[in-house]
Amino acid sequence: MRIEDPMIVAALPELNVELRSPSALAGLTSLAIGGTTDLLRIKNHESIPSLLSLLDSHGVSHRFLGGGSNLLVGDGELPWVVLQLASSDPDIALDGNFAHVDGAADLGRTVTYCAKHDLGGMEGLIGVPGTVGGALRMNAGAYGMQIGSYVREVKLYRAATRQIEILRGEQISFEYRHTSFAPDDMMLAVKLELPSKPYKEILQGIRICNEKRRSSQPLGQKSAGCIFKNPPGASAGRMIDDLGLKGLSVGDARVSDRHANFFVNAGKASAKDMLALIANVRERVRSAFQVELEHEVVIWNA
Ligand code: EPU
Repeated sequence: MRIEDPMIVAALPELNVELRSPSALAGLTSLAIGGTTDLLRIKNHESIPSLLSLLDSHGVSHRFLGGGSNLLVGDGELPWVVLQLASSDPDIALDGNFAHVDGAADLGRTVTYCAKHDLGGMEGLIGVPGTVGGALRMNAGAYGMQIGSYVREVKLYRAATRQIEILRGEQISFEYRHTSFAPDDMMLAVKLELPSKPYKEILQGIRICNEKRRSSQPLGQKSAGCIFKNPPGASAGRMIDDLGLKGLSVGDARVSDRHANFFVNAGKASAKDMLALIANVRERVRSAFQVELEHEVVIWNA
């Protein structure tokens, strides 16, 4: 979608919003899939309510983009504009065991920065690509931990009230790859409380997680991590593998040879290819195991 209305274009600089027009979402997602639309980069959180009223009053729909690492975006001209927080500097501030982190901060860098200051707990998240805001929204987790356990406060733009609010950790429910945030809430900043741990010990944990990840996941390839959630008590990757589906392809969309719940873009895969592969694998798992796999990856398909 192109923002052509001169009223909107003229108002954006006053709101501290940069218009990048048009942007290919393939360049902003780890799957390297996704069509084109206008991208609005927000440099000042406080202007979000005014920006959204402006867009709404002109009938411009929008989506919020984090790091684009758990996302499958449709092909072609997209029917909404994309909003993304610009990163701020510094984006992490420490205060005892508390870390105040900007939503746009890189998750891996946050884990290592805190580690260097003897704050641990998030070792499992090393190697998970994306922003802290995206990790919060999905309650990212790995190797027995999830980010939600450390959340004490979240500053967010809340779609329901159209305001910026601060929620306490107890007001938010963090479940397996799911939170009580609404899909159109925007994570702006978080206060984490992390356990004190010597850097050397944290580093050891980080090394172990890195090793496990390297040995079981296709790290150098274009993917969005796991495509399906694990059903209770089972592993989607193992089920797909047991059906002999590693290497199954639709165009350049392919079930990874390394981990069957990672679907990779092996070249110029389109969203159509990837969606067809996802539907195909889901159907085969349904008929073999009578299990309906749920998407873990977020799908923005018009
Ligand atoms: N397995 C296979 N074949 C495969 C893949 C896995 O047999 O192709 C088997 C493994 O040998 C293992 C079991 O399935 O016995 C579980 O595999 P793994 O340890 O890789 O964990 P997972 O359940 O597939 C989950 C998360 C990952 C996270 C890892 C490590 C989900 C959907 N996936 O994977 O998260 O990194 O545990 O904690 O919850 C993601 O969220 O995108 C993601 C990749």
